[in-house]
Amino acid sequence: AQDVGTDLERVLLTKEQIAARVQELAAELDRDYAGKDVLLVGVLKGAVMVMADLSRAMRIPVAMDWMAVSSYGSGTRSSGVVRILKDLDADISGRHVLVVEDIIDSGLTLSWLLANLSSREPASVRVCTLLRKPDAAKVHVDVAYVGFDIPNEFVVGYGLDFADRYRNLDAVGTLAPHVYS
Ligand code: PRP
Ligand code: MN
Ligand code: MG
Repeated sequence: AQDVGTDLERVLLTKEQIAARVQELAAELDRDYAGKDVLLVGVLKGAVMVMADLSRAMRIPVAMDWMAVSSYGSGTRSSGVVRILKDLDADISGRHVLVVEDIIDSGLTLSWLLANLSSREPASVRVCTLLRKPDAAKVHVDVAYVGFDIPNEFVVGYGLDFADRYRNLDAVGTLAPHVYS
């Protein structure tokens, strides 16, 4: 276990559990996208870890691009009002786009992102997320590939942050209360 992991209260998913599920998702994607021009779109910064591991577990050729969006404005909760901080480099028209996310919480970020990407006339747009919180959903988002459904608790690790920290944990878990105070 990593030193930074001592700030965890409870481990929800171990490094091994995550790796095994990522392999399964990659195999599913290999089958579904065989022979297609697929562009993986990672949403910065949280998706960095899952993008790196998922893409390397895939056996079909893929291209990768990144978007950075801000949905939190000045408040602490997702507002649904999204700003593009970094747009795609690639033109996605006619291509098969797979958005890669670390977590879907309220769904507001992704819902906006999917509408935005769809307007660029890709051949298809689907979503792959490592984590999803069904009980936190404020808007329905169609997600084709889900790693794990988890309870509505604040979790960090494997890309997910608290104040930009804990992204480099290799497990996913809840933070101990002393971290907040
Ligand atoms: C987090 C997470 C998702 C989004 C999910 O990103 O990585 O992208 O929030 O929230 P939602 O479903 O309620 O919209 P965040 O905005 O914290 O940026 P980060 O990836 O840089 O941490
Ligand atoms: Mn994010
Ligand atoms: Mg974050």
